[in-house]
Amino acid sequence: MGNRIYEKLITCTNAVKSRITFKPEVALILGSGLGDYAQEMDVVETLEYSEIEGFPVSTVAGHQGRFLFGYVKDVPVVAMQGRVHYYEGYEMSDVVLPTRLMGLLGAKTIILTNAAGGVNYNFRPGDLMMITDHITTTVPSPLIGPNLEELGPRFPDMSEVYNKELREIIREAAKNVKVSIQQGVYMQLTGPNYETPAEIRMCRTMGGDAAGMSTACEAMAANHMGMDVCGISCITNMAAGMSAQPLDHKEVQETADRVAADFKKLVTETIRLIGEKKNG
Ligand code: HPA
Repeated sequence: MGNRIYEKLITCTNAVKSRITFKPEVALILGSGLGDYAQEMDVVETLEYSEIEGFPVSTVAGHQGRFLFGYVKDVPVVAMQGRVHYYEGYEMSDVVLPTRLMGLLGAKTIILTNAAGGVNYNFRPGDLMMITDHITTTVPSPLIGPNLEELGPRFPDMSEVYNKELREIIREAAKNVKVSIQQGVYMQLTGPNYETPAEIRMCRTMGGDAAGMSTACEAMAANHMGMDVCGISCITNMAAGMSAQPLDHKEVQETADRVAADFKKLVTETIRLIGEKKNG
């Protein structure tokens, strides 16, 4: 008997392959602030998630949901405009299905982006943080269940989820485009509620620098199947209890929009350097 999760992944992947001839080398998940990243790409093909039978589609009002296939500085890229989150009620296997699908399309490298709350007191809203490592013990692992042997091992090593060479590339990219970056540990919590001040203190005590509701599970699934992973968070707000005002999704969106230009520049230069150093 086949594995239900693997069969769904293959069915969705084949559905995309039947529509799209593009062969990506880099996968990119666009978080808050990068919603209009399409402008930075020479888009050659697009595919709405809703056109792929069984593919998880976001329930959040106003969220876009499509794949963009195209070139960033001559590097073939598949970008996800919109992702689904665990808090929407999807199984973890569905949350990471798109990540795995992009890996099966041929992307060897994945760049994950998101909005996150700043937990480190040295951060300020609007900072960009290169992810050095993550903590996911507060959400279920996407690898729970029968192992998908076709993708990777039962007990995958997670000692370097965020690839060292890619971290150096991000640092160099930041220098090249004169965007200052922070670095730190991303902690994934389930959401959809923002955390309590006590939970943020827990996060800080555990070694987290930023708190978010996506990304780390995607990083794990990508690492499991042997992709090279990197990630950048936009620190949209100081996390709960760290500033006088209550948390608000509008503030998150406004900060993400305010730094979008720098975020886009950094991602584009990162992809250019990946093309030059890794693929070239
Ligand atoms: N917590 C969790 N996720 C977030 C936050 C936060 O403060 N800001 C943006 N995404």
